[in-house]
Amino acid sequence: MMINVMENTLVLLKPDAVQRKLCGEIISRFERKGLSLVALKLLTLTPAIAASHYEEHLDKPFYPSLVSFITSGPVVAIVLRGPNAIKAVRTMMGPTNPENAPPGTIRGDYATVMSNNIIHGSDSVISAQREIAIYFTEHELVQ
Ligand code: TYD
Ligand code: MG
Repeated sequence: MMINVMENTLVLLKPDAVQRKLCGEIISRFERKGLSLVALKLLTLTPAIAASHYEEHLDKPFYPSLVSFITSGPVVAIVLRGPNAIKAVRTMMGPTNPENAPPGTIRGDYATVMSNNIIHGSDSVISAQREIAIYFTEHELVQ
């Protein structure tokens, strides 16, 4: 039997999404899907926050450009909640490389290159818990 586990997941609308004024459009997709807003803020990442967020990629060749990009302007950090929310958000985002992202996905509809791919979403329960704690305190999450 399939069990629909209630999950929280961390979404970042990256600097390109904010700069291109796509935030309302993207948040609207998640609301129409049926996911609930649990926390939301606009902030510019410090290099330290960016390093914490992307610690798994520290040794990758794209790491310096990734940190440079993600700190280049304000982002919107969001906690979304719903049944299987982590997978639901990843499916709606589409693949990491927008060249492979089908129309109808967020990256497929709004992005062309991997270095500017509009959105981050947690990839597991462990990642979601770790990432949410980077951006929000417990009392900033609505019940
Ligand atoms: P990753 O965690 O693999 O992708 P996702 O965001 O889908 O979870 O990579 C983090 C970000 O790093 C990705 O959104 C864009 C950037 N990136 C590159 O710039 N080049 C690359 O080759 C990869 C794999 C990622
Ligand atoms: Mg990732």
